[in-house]
Amino acid sequence: MTSPVLNDRRVLLGVSGGIAAYKVIELVRMLRTLGARVDVTMTGAAEQFVTATTFETLTRQPVRRDVFEQWTETDAGHVSLAENADILVIAPATANTIAKIAHGFADDMLTVSVLACPGPVLIAPAMDHHMYLNQATQANLETLRSRGIEILGPEEGELASGILGHGRLSPPEQILGKIRSILGRTGPLAGRKIVVSSGATREPIDPIRFITNRSSGRMGHAIAQALIDAGARTTLVSAPTDLDPPIDSHVVNVESAGDMHEAVASHIRDADALIMAAAVGDYAPTGVSQEKVKKTEQDLSIELTRTVDILATTQRPGLIKIGFAAETANLVEYARQKLTSKGVDLLVANDARLAMASDENQATFFRPGREPEELPLMSKADLARRIVEELSQILRAEHPEPEFPDATTT
Ligand SMILES: Cc1cc2nc3c(=O)[nH]c(=O)nc-3n(C[C@H](O)[C@H](O)[C@H](O)COP(=O)(O)O)c2cc1C
Repeated sequence: MTSPVLNDRRVLLGVSGGIAAYKVIELVRMLRTLGARVDVTMTGAAEQFVTATTFETLTRQPVRRDVFEQWTETDAGHVSLAENADILVIAPATANTIAKIAHGFADDMLTVSVLACPGPVLIAPAMDHHMYLNQATQANLETLRSRGIEILGPEEGELASGILGHGRLSPPEQILGKIRSILGRTGPLAGRKIVVSSGATREPIDPIRFITNRSSGRMGHAIAQALIDAGARTTLVSAPTDLDPPIDSHVVNVESAGDMHEAVASHIRDADALIMAAAVGDYAPTGVSQEKVKKTEQDLSIELTRTVDILATTQRPGLIKIGFAAETANLVEYARQKLTSKGVDLLVANDARLAMASDENQATFFRPGREPEELPLMSKADLARRIVEELSQILRAEHPEPEFPDATTT
């Protein structure tokens, strides 16, 4: 399953000689699955840890390490790789390689590529705790940051030496997320701020019990990732889920429908659009018991109060709204009603039983004044992309320029 932000994009991966080199094999596999062309250059030390054959098999490209490559009509030897790359990623980046880059060395293919790369450079350091905290390494990283090179991690945790400390390579999923975010910056939603809600709200009964629903948050989180891929500053208002939020989303964690309403109201003030993909509880227990409700021999009734309809009540001139209708019967009829009653620009209707807790979804788009468009069954990632494409079109038509071009915070 490819992704437009990576499909046919060229990622140049520089692997230096740290024990974490084996972890980036998984990164290469993920990049390839999403459609990227990956070229790998390894330092001599990196080849002590992993073999070029592994990377060559996964990338279907030769691993490049020789600076004295032949020049041809189309290939300017040692600098072509970097010049043609959409992004250069160095993972793991050793203390030695970081020091060389900070001082402008160019004594192997990796360091030559950094100097020759006109595009963005991302560095994921990994090393022993003391090596990382050493003033020399810290100063070198600061130098790289000041030159606009992006640094991801390292994380705190158990290191190869057995000690706990700073120096673990960021997980491949996070490096991938950062690559998507960097490559997405020039996308169709660059300069736009979008708020998306996700997850299943929890309406408390007492301190330990709550009412919730089966929504996994996969649709909302997939939309947040698609927004980042398209360059949007993305605020993810998330009710509880088991999912990791996409890298570079601004996450606002909430529990109940009331919390979500407050968070959405505050974050849409400078947003271009709101996408309500969360499964918000329609009813909440009328009074929350401060103590655990005790079991008795009698049946128990809990009175429920209607929660606020976030999608219908959230309004601001110029705000584009996208909502979901998850029904188990009379989908088309309910969707048409919701389209007008909630004043949305796009309503995504889906069968709740198929959609909940699944990786796939089959949806129908309802737009004001247009015939419904039934989409085929597709992954939630693909549906998220379709929704974001639709949003880009609506925004282009209604606000050719971003509403808040100077806003820098999410
Ligand atoms: C077993 C072993 C593990 C190592 N792990 C790391 C590491 O995680 N990070 C690091 O900066 N250096 C590590 N080193 C040291 C580097 O391999 C060494 O500094 C080397 O010169 C780096 O070369 P390069 O930056 O050209 O790849 C390790 C060395 C050994 C022998």
